[in-house]
Amino acid sequence: MKSRHRGFFLKLSVAGALLGALAGALSLAGCGGGDGVSVADTAAAPASGSWRWTLPTGFPVPAVPADNPMSEAGVDLGRHLFYDKRLSGNGTQACASCHLQDRAFTDGFAVSQGSTGQFTHRSAQHLGNVAYNPTLTWANPSLLSLEKQMEVPLFSEDPVEMGLNDSNKAQVLQRLADLPLYQQKFTAAFAGQGSPINWNNVIKAIASFQRSMITGNSKYDQFVAGKAVFTPTELRGMNLFFGEKAECFHCHGSFNFNDQVVHASTRVLELPFSNTGLFNIGGTGAFPEPNRGVFELSGLPRDMGMFRAPSLRNVEVTAPYTHDGSIETLEGMLDFYAAGGRNITSGPHAGDGRLNPLKSDLIALINLDAQEKADIVAFLKTLTDHDFLTNPKLSSPFPAP
Ligand code: HEC
Ligand code: HEC
Repeated sequence: MKSRHRGFFLKLSVAGALLGALAGALSLAGCGGGDGVSVADTAAAPASGSWRWTLPTGFPVPAVPADNPMSEAGVDLGRHLFYDKRLSGNGTQACASCHLQDRAFTDGFAVSQGSTGQFTHRSAQHLGNVAYNPTLTWANPSLLSLEKQMEVPLFSEDPVEMGLNDSNKAQVLQRLADLPLYQQKFTAAFAGQGSPINWNNVIKAIASFQRSMITGNSKYDQFVAGKAVFTPTELRGMNLFFGEKAECFHCHGSFNFNDQVVHASTRVLELPFSNTGLFNIGGTGAFPEPNRGVFELSGLPRDMGMFRAPSLRNVEVTAPYTHDGSIETLEGMLDFYAAGGRNITSGPHAGDGRLNPLKSDLIALINLDAQEKADIVAFLKTLTDHDFLTNPKLSSPFPAP
C-alpha cells in the first residue's frame, strides 16, 4: 500500500498554527456530531429564528465562526443577497451569476467572466458542503473562512468580479438601504444593531447562506443507508474508487469526497495540496502562470502545481474540470488519471506532466480498461444529489425576469 499524500503537506506546526487561527475564527467547541444531528445555535447573538441543522446521516456539525452564528433570518437575508445583482458595482452580476444551483453552484465555464468583462484565472467552484472546507479556493492555504474569501469576488480589482471599490461601495449599500425588503431583513438578521446595513453584515449573511448549502442525499448516500440499489457498473466503480488500484479515495475519500475537512469537533487539521501532473512545461516541472497552485502565494519551489482536491459530490454537473477547466468530461478525467498525468505535446505549455517531479506518487499509470473507467464514471454519477440541485431554500427568492 502506498503512503497517503506525497503532495504538499503543511508541516504539523504550521497546521497547528492554522488550526489555532481557525479555532480563533470558528467555534471549534465540541457540539457533538454524528448522525443526522440537529443543534440549535445557543451562542447566537440576537437574531430572529434560531437555526437547526438538518444534516445527512454521518455528517458532522459544521464549524461556525463565533462572531457569525447561524440563524434563519441571517440565512434568508444571505440568500437574497447571493442572488441580487444590485450587489455588483454596475448592477449586472450577483454571486449566483457564476454559481448556479442546477450546476451545484458552478457555472459550466472553464473560467468565468466578471461584471466588467474580465475573466477569472480559474474555474468557478461548486459550493456544495462548502461549510466543511478549511481552506477556500483552488490553492490558498491561508484563506480560512467564507467571510474572508468573499472579499475576493466582492472587492477584487484584478480580475474584477463584482466590481466593488471605494468609489461605489457606499452607493451599492444605499441601493440596498433604499429597499423596504432589505430594511426589514437586515433588522431581522442583526436585531439590536443601530444601522445593520453594512458590508460586514452583508458578508456575514451570505456566508451563513453558503453554510446552509449542504448536499448529502445522492444515490450513493441512499445506497449506504440501504435505501437504493447500485447497478453492477456502479458497484464495480465504487470498489475501484475505494480500492488500491485506482487510488482515488486517498485524496477524495472523506464523507465529502475530498481530503480537507473541518467541522465543529475537529481536533487535528490536515491541509494537503497535491500536484496531479497536469503540466510540466519544458520538463522543468512548471505550471503556467498565474495558475501555479500554492506556489503563486508561497513562492516555494515545492509548492509548484499543488492544488486542493475538490469535493466530488455532484461532480456530474460541475464540468469542465480541474482548476483551469481544461478537462471537459468525466471520461477525460479518467483517461488523465489512468495515464498518470497529462502529456502536452505542442504549444507554449508543452511538456510531459506524467514526469512532473512534484507529482504525487498516487497518480501513477494505472491499468484501467475501458470498462473500468466507465464503471468509475458511473459511480461518480451516483454522487449527484437532485434534491440539492432543486432545493427551493437554495434557489433564487426573486421572481424570474
Ligand atoms: C465572476 C464570477 C464569480 C462571481 C461573480 C463570484 N464567484 Fe465565487 N468563485 C469564482 C471563481 C473563479 C472561483 C475560484 C477562485 C480561485 O480559485 O481563484 C470561486 C470560488 C468561490 C468560493 C470557494 C469555494 C471553495 O470550495 O473553496 C466561494 C465560497 C465563492 N466563490 C463564493 C462566492 C460568493 C459568496 C460570491 C458573491 C459575493 C461569488 N463567489 C461571486 C467565480 C465567481
Ligand atoms: C494525489 C491526490 C489525488 C488522487 C489520488 C486523485 N485525485 Fe482527483 N483531484 C486531485 C486534485 C488535487 C484535483 C484538482 C487538480 C487541479 O485542479 O489542478 C483533483 C480533481 C479531480 C476531479 C475534477 C473535479 C473538479 O471539480 O474539477 C475529478 C473528477 C477527480 N479528481 C476524480 C478522481 C478520481 C476518479 C481519482 C481516481 C482515479 C482521483 N481523482 C484521484 C487529487 C487527487
